Amino acid sequence: MDPVNLREYEQAAKDRLDPDLYDYFAGGAQDEVTLRANEAAFRRLMLVPRVLTGAGEPALDVTILGRTASMPVLVAPTAFHRLAHPEGELATGRAVAAAGGIMITAMLSTVAMEEVAATGAELWFQFYLQPDPGYTEHLVRRAEAAGCRALVITVDSPALRTGERARSALLELPAGLSCPNLGGDGDIRQVTLSPEISWEHVDRLRRTTSLPIVLKGILHPADAALAVAHGADAIIVSNHGGRQLDSAAATIDRLPAVADAVGGRVPVLLDGGVRRGTDVVKALALGARAVAIGRPVVWGLSVAGADGVAHVLALLRAELANALTLCGLGSAGQVPRDLVVTDGPAAA
Ligand code: FNR
Repeated sequence: MDPVNLREYEQAAKDRLDPDLYDYFAGGAQDEVTLRANEAAFRRLMLVPRVLTGAGEPALDVTILGRTASMPVLVAPTAFHRLAHPEGELATGRAVAAAGGIMITAMLSTVAMEEVAATGAELWFQFYLQPDPGYTEHLVRRAEAAGCRALVITVDSPALRTGERARSALLELPAGLSCPNLGGDGDIRQVTLSPEISWEHVDRLRRTTSLPIVLKGILHPADAALAVAHGADAIIVSNHGGRQLDSAAATIDRLPAVADAVGGRVPVLLDGGVRRGTDVVKALALGARAVAIGRPVVWGLSVAGADGVAHVLALLRAELANALTLCGLGSAGQVPRDLVVTDGPAAA
């Protein structure tokens, strides 16, 4: 039986993945406080729908950085897709291309960005700013040449977290798998996560490229304002899916303050714990232009390759359309803030 929602996809993936691999994908840092909080925070928010609006079938497409996506749900960057399925990021790319979506492809992809781009998916390239400016520039030029439409800089990772459930800091990939975006031989230590990285590196990047720059991993409104001041074209409110700083705040809880600080100057996106169409609606109401999903894509990939990713995206799309309709709304681009109240019950 096909899974009917994203949670069932997780269970189906768990049933078929090697337990260590499942833990690598599913796990978070330390006590997994943040991992759980991301989802729990969505459950605390309640919706106050409008009635008799006559809004008709809702329009789901959104424009971000001048590009139109068929729905306000992007694929977040997750490493090592070939651990989930032999076709890896190629399968993900095909599904995203077919869905008219946007895929943020990872520096730590197990398929070269050029090959993922060849699937026809709209691609944004995620990487970590490197202490060696020559290496950063090399990555930027390569992403430009591959046709990536934006650079997504993950800024929540001045160090690798200490993992536990994820026994896998996964410092070495199995034989036969590599990270070709690193020019690599599978040795992911070629990526340096450095606490020396600062806004100066963002400034340098801004001078290096005319591609849009998206800063991923912002939770504090002051950082959101700094991001805009330093030339970011969009920001992603994210805590890395609870995989870096444990006890980092839940993303949906931080979204309103970040959206206020940005004041509409650049689009704000959010990831972390989005599992239902109603989660997407809540994020849109609280100031996000779109959201991104990480683990659910990996679950779809694990279960059925490109078809599984396509099905995950289709399920969320159908849920989103239904949720908007039940809220009396005609467009994913116009979700009013008063749709959401924060005095819901404590999470189950
Ligand atoms: C990630 N994430 C991530 N982020 C990033 O910027 N670069 C990366 O290489 C990775 N790798 C990665 C691997 C795996 C297995 C997971 C689950 C996550 C974080 C990802 O982009 C995103 O922030 C979260 O996954 C969003 O939370 P959900 O949707 O998984 O709850």
